[in-house]
Amino acid sequence: MSATKTPITSISIAQRVNRFSYAIRNVVAEARRVEAAGTSVRYLNVGDPVAFGFETPPHLIAAVERALRDGHNGYGPSAGIPAAREAVAAEYTSRGFPVSAGRVFMTAGTSEAIEFALTALVDEGGEVLMPMPTYPLFTAVLGKIGGQARFYRLDPARAWMPDLDHLHSLVTPATRALVVIDPNNPTGACYSVATRRALLDFADRHGLPVLVDEVYGDLAFAYDGVHPPMGSLGPDVPIVSFAGLSKGYLAPGWRTGWMAIGRSPQLDSLVGAAEKLADGRLCSTVPMQFAVAAALTGDRSHQVSFRAALKERATVTFEKLSAIPGITCVAPTAAFYAMPKIALPPGRTDEDYVLALLRATGVLCVYGSGFGLPATDGFMRIVFLAPPAELRTVYGLIADFTRDYLGRS
Ligand SMILES: Cc1ncc(COP(=O)(O)O)c(C=O)c1O
Repeated sequence: MSATKTPITSISIAQRVNRFSYAIRNVVAEARRVEAAGTSVRYLNVGDPVAFGFETPPHLIAAVERALRDGHNGYGPSAGIPAAREAVAAEYTSRGFPVSAGRVFMTAGTSEAIEFALTALVDEGGEVLMPMPTYPLFTAVLGKIGGQARFYRLDPARAWMPDLDHLHSLVTPATRALVVIDPNNPTGACYSVATRRALLDFADRHGLPVLVDEVYGDLAFAYDGVHPPMGSLGPDVPIVSFAGLSKGYLAPGWRTGWMAIGRSPQLDSLVGAAEKLADGRLCSTVPMQFAVAAALTGDRSHQVSFRAALKERATVTFEKLSAIPGITCVAPTAAFYAMPKIALPPGRTDEDYVLALLRATGVLCVYGSGFGLPATDGFMRIVFLAPPAELRTVYGLIADFTRDYLGRS
């Protein structure tokens, strides 16, 4: 061994890793520093109901336990176990979107389902119409595969509904798909039937597949949870739906989701591609797939109480935030997110505000630019899963902080 040390040069990293960032988790690094300095942090950045005490239904846990004990610990079929595929197909079909089990794929969370669809449909340079604000998973996948996001505006002045004129203006010969997130993260909005029909008409006119993220489909608390799958409004339009156990079934750590491909023959090619992509990663977690039939055919009373809890928290959130001078907020109607706007002084960004709020109060939110919004528009996303009393404390802290922040700037 030589006594002289060779200088360390880093192994070079592929460019695709630099094509995206993930603000929801990035802000945590600063939160850890704030904690290390002695301030306790309230983590309102990640939409994980289990982290806030909402419990996975016991009959789902029992189904997974049984599967583990019954020896279902080997690889499973790439596309998923038949019982899970059939339960998902039956669920969509009973809600007006006819899907056959052979067109359902079980995946590692909703996330992998989205990754499969984009990977199958978008070549390098291909464009995808995506909502703005967006859910960063989509941009992360597009970054990795070399696709381009073309963002259509969601309009806070119209309860965060999509701006259809803007959407129309973005179509080019390179457009490959329309992404819809409904109910929506990060806005907490749920689209009207007229809006959903307009989106389907638009896609149909341009021959585009509609990729609809419906992971919050059972959490439309303002409408008693009745938010049918978008495919029920146009079963013959080429629609692909993504969902899973993470939100409505309170099991995000199980990484169990699915993709359901509608019956349009235009999508037969996607079924073949999904089979190939599924083979390419062997299978998703097998024991957890045994909870899918239990979830979709068993007791769902937990969703009734979960929606009631969300509705109460949404009301507290909207009332308290709207009462703060300098903050405006659209009332959330689904999921567990609110997207208030802070009237920032010139020169300040949403990230400045969110980090200053964190350092001063320990309240951690995510800045709107992490979802693709202009940093000077002053939006941030709040996860309102904490108990109402805790939320009232948080909004009190935000009110005091915002008064000082806007007053002194
Ligand atoms: C809109 C949306 N899609 C997908 C996901 C990811 O879901 P999963 O945990 O099932 O991968 C989330 C998680 O927050 C989400 O908000």
